[in-house]
Amino acid sequence: MVSGGNRGIGLAVVRDLAARGFTVIQGARDPDAAPAVDGDVHAVRLDVSDGESIGALADGLAHADVLVNNAAIAYDTWNRAASTDLDFVRDAFETNLFGAWALTQALLPQLRASGHGRVVNVSSGSGALSSMGGGTPAYQVSKAALNALTRTLAGELRGDGILVNAICPGWVATDMGGAGGRPVEDGAASVVWGAVLSDDGPTGGFFRDGRPLAW
Ligand SMILES: NC(=O)c1ccc[n+]([C@@H]2O[C@H](COP(=O)([O-])OP(=O)(O)OC[C@H]3O[C@@H](n4cnc5c(N)ncnc54)[C@H](OP(=O)(O)O)[C@@H]3O)[C@@H](O)[C@H]2O)c1
Repeated sequence: MVSGGNRGIGLAVVRDLAARGFTVIQGARDPDAAPAVDGDVHAVRLDVSDGESIGALADGLAHADVLVNNAAIAYDTWNRAASTDLDFVRDAFETNLFGAWALTQALLPQLRASGHGRVVNVSSGSGALSSMGGGTPAYQVSKAALNALTRTLAGELRGDGILVNAICPGWVATDMGGAGGRPVEDGAASVVWGAVLSDDGPTGGFFRDGRPLAW
């Protein structure tokens, strides 16, 4: 299951997982407009800021081994914590933190039943407290919170065989990342690494390209 699977890194993750033989649910706010992907791929309506949408998706999903919480908004490079409209920040949290949180809760029965569940929270180096400075407030604070959620869920779900990690795709040339970033396939590969971990793989970690990042 991939949220925001209709463009950017999410679409590339859908393509990568499908090429590996996964049955992939391509979450999209407008599934009719989602690009078709070769393989066993099913576009399904999903708005992670809408509880009803999440509930309908979870009800229709018999099985899930992997959840990729990819959907995110508000890379607010122009913005400042000192002056930002907090409603803008709340909207960012609704998608970047609570969307991932609610979707994970909703799919926990399937992930637990899998016995090999994997949750990948697509995070960002921007959310690393160790290197954080001013600017990009809604985005970097919401990603830091997503990192904290990653640690918290990993601690709670270890006993269920569910590995939960935060993964940065690197700077990627998408609508969000803009020109100059690396190809989407490279960003997707960083994310997929966390989706296909073996049972003895890490949990509660922060990675880019399979290498640990400082929180
Ligand atoms: N690009 C980078 O350089 C970079 C760097 C570090 C981390 N990341 C992270 O990588 C992930 C993907 O980024 P990207 O660059 O591919 O971004 P993007 O091109 O802006 O795509 C964002 C995706 O999220 C979806 N989305 C937004 N709000 C949603 C909602 N409420 N419900 C469901 N889907 C929603 C969008 O759907 P619509 O088409 O409907 O808007 C779109 O599919 C994000 O978590 C981002 O923070 C990106």
